[in-house]
Amino acid sequence: MSSIRYVLDGEVRTVSRVEPTRTVLQHLREDLGRTGTKEGCAEGDCGACTVVLAELDGAKLRYRAVNSCIQFLPALDGRALLTVESLAERSGHGTAAGLHPVQRALAESHGTQCGFCTPGFVMSLFALYKGQPAPDRKAITDTLAGNLCRCTGYRPIVDAAWTMYALGRSIPTSEQDWLRAPAGSTSRAAAASEAALARRLRAIRRRRGFVLRHPAGTFHAPRTVAELAALRERWPGARLLAGGTDLGLWVTKHYRPLGDLIAVGEVAELRQVSMEDGCLAIGAVVSLTDAFDALAHHYPELSELFRRFGSPPIRNAGTLAGNVANGSPIGDSIPALIALGARLRLRRGMARRELALEALYLGYQETALEPGEFIETVLVPLRPPGLHLAAYKVSKRFDQDISAVCGAFALTLAHGVVRAARIAFGGMAATPKRATACEAALSGQPWGEATCVQGAAALARDYAPISDLRASAGYRATVAGNLLRRFYLETAGQEPGRPCRPPVSPLRVGDVQLEVAG
Ligand code: FES
Ligand code: FES
Repeated sequence: MSSIRYVLDGEVRTVSRVEPTRTVLQHLREDLGRTGTKEGCAEGDCGACTVVLAELDGAKLRYRAVNSCIQFLPALDGRALLTVESLAERSGHGTAAGLHPVQRALAESHGTQCGFCTPGFVMSLFALYKGQPAPDRKAITDTLAGNLCRCTGYRPIVDAAWTMYALGRSIPTSEQDWLRAPAGSTSRAAAASEAALARRLRAIRRRRGFVLRHPAGTFHAPRTVAELAALRERWPGARLLAGGTDLGLWVTKHYRPLGDLIAVGEVAELRQVSMEDGCLAIGAVVSLTDAFDALAHHYPELSELFRRFGSPPIRNAGTLAGNVANGSPIGDSIPALIALGARLRLRRGMARRELALEALYLGYQETALEPGEFIETVLVPLRPPGLHLAAYKVSKRFDQDISAVCGAFALTLAHGVVRAARIAFGGMAATPKRATACEAALSGQPWGEATCVQGAAALARDYAPISDLRASAGYRATVAGNLLRRFYLETAGQEPGRPCRPPVSPLRVGDVQLEVAG
């Protein structure tokens, strides 16, 4: 029987005899009495519970904001946990001068009223403070996309993000520890204190997997892919846990016991992005943040879709393979991956096989994965010549919303003729689904108005969408056809490889953000 070991305010904490699905938020508020971190939605939407995890990234530390309400306690193992109290306690109690620069900036910018959301904003801003030395406005608003404030309004909070750096730099470098030094600081004192934290993390780093046994279920955290494969074969009924951004809700919203769990997050071999035979090979443990960075490098047309996927804390915790394996009909990464011709490398014991991504989905929450099998790698082909690509998300809000329809279009043109077409939609069927009838209507045809009309008509053979809270069936069918037309209008006469349009920023009137969808 093992224990969870993590660092809190410079000290190593050990937790044993704990239910593996106890959340980090429950641990903070109920076990440690650290009630600065708040619970709002308990499903990763509001950001009130945001904390920061520091972890080793080679010789350096990496800081990630995550939602503590849906992170299970074992996710802390080997990491340093930072809460709003960590910032205040380390910076001095009670006086404005003693506040952390992020907190002081929020106070001085009048960025808080009732204060319920404020600890979450502090921690999201802290992750930015440590991660980027000079973010622009887009980077700031993207950082805050997962934090809701109901009474202050965002303008003073954004102002705080501008001023926190100046406040941090005004601290003499000899007095900056790693906590107070902003990204890019050259303070030796800060470097030395950060190195001390890194040493502490190295000291608790595990060489082997660990197991937590509890009457509610056993939690396995393998360290190697071979270990993972053996565990998966031996316990095919255990649930695989990656970022927990979906399974967390089973616990916090449905009070569902999860039974035995196999957590994949510590398998270092699966945390790599590499090039392999003309493909981007994205390991199963690569976070959505890192996977989207790699994909957007090759396919900048997808940047806006990725920016609108969940929020930074969700993308920091969730994995691309987890989104794929989940197979939700509104899993926003999947239509784009299908359009790009992604394949999956599946593993069961020592055996591997490859599967086209679209072949994974057999029905609602039903996949072609065999008992004991898991996704090892997502393989995304590199850009072929002549590719036109676009992905559109249609939802009621710009940020943090669930798609009504998400469509992705990949067309290879030669001399104005469609040589290859791959089109997929989310929100139109029980699973994300390829539009094969539409593709057939386009292939071999000149890329023109008439072909586009035929393709849109063919979508009726591909999909019979349903009505639900997000959209009616008729709306979905109409939007799908209109998105194809939009793609046509944006690509007609355009050089391949250019984004169909400049990345869209939310419209702003003064400091008021108007949200646009699609
Ligand atoms: Fe709302 Fe965690 S409580 S995101
Ligand atoms: Fe009240 Fe943000 S200050 S919710």
